[in-house]
Amino acid sequence: MDVPPRSLRHAGMAVQVWPDAEIACRVAGDLIITSIRAAEAQRRRAVLGLATGSTPERVYAHLVRQYRTGGVSFRNVITYNLDEYYPISPVDPRSYRAYMHRHLFSQVDLEPNRAHVLDGTVPEAFVAGLAAAFDRWIEADGGLDLQLLGIGRNGHIGFNEPSDLTVAEALRLPTRLVELHPTTRADAARDFGGADQVIARALTLGIAPILAARSIVILATGAPKAEAVAAALTGPMTAALPASLLQSVAGKVTWILDEPAASGLNGPWSVVRGDQDRVRGAAH
Ligand code: GLP
Repeated sequence: MDVPPRSLRHAGMAVQVWPDAEIACRVAGDLIITSIRAAEAQRRRAVLGLATGSTPERVYAHLVRQYRTGGVSFRNVITYNLDEYYPISPVDPRSYRAYMHRHLFSQVDLEPNRAHVLDGTVPEAFVAGLAAAFDRWIEADGGLDLQLLGIGRNGHIGFNEPSDLTVAEALRLPTRLVELHPTTRADAARDFGGADQVIARALTLGIAPILAARSIVILATGAPKAEAVAAALTGPMTAALPASLLQSVAGKVTWILDEPAASGLNGPWSVVRGDQDRVRGAAH
């Protein structure tokens, strides 16, 4: 039994704070499993938006463990990933397609043609068409039941980087090709053997399709995320900090944090049971 977290609300968004990253990731994984079961109960496929980066690795480890012990099946699941470097081969170990294959796709019973990752091999002239098609495929599948997000140190979600757009413009951003922000390149340096080696562009699900998901779970662990987390939760909505745009759909957003990532937030804190029920409801 997990230790009950501290909880609070900021700008209408539910915030759960768990003692450590392992538990936070397990909780996020359990919300995904709840979403899969809710769709099964409705005799339809669950549609999941998945994230990469170091943070969700433990979420996928939890899902794989649950799958192996019969706790969940991906037989009736469709997935759409948030982002991918561009250009990159899917067999390049640094690609997000390869990441997903390692951490989840090759480990569970998900059908290969239901596991969608933006394709880093598409010729540049066709990238806009691919991006628009990706948004259409999600809609054709009935929309995302749950979007899992991480957050960059600069407040990015997916690869939607800080910009000087107006809030109204940022909220309309579709899936597209983007330039990576210097902070993002610095953070990806460990995977690429130096910031100057990081692939400079990426494909990302846009702000609009992210916010269209029926529920959004944003997971942040570790002290380096504390500043961006506090600004996104307690600051104004601004395109300069894309995670703050989640405030525009506050009622369907749940932040899952460990103590270090929550260290920039102030109470008052309360027990979270009602919020967990709310998330469960949103996943139905
Ligand atoms: C990466 C990904 C994001 C991710 C974020 C944080 O660049 N594009 O989707 O949420 O940055 O990554 P990490 O979890 O490794 O800190």
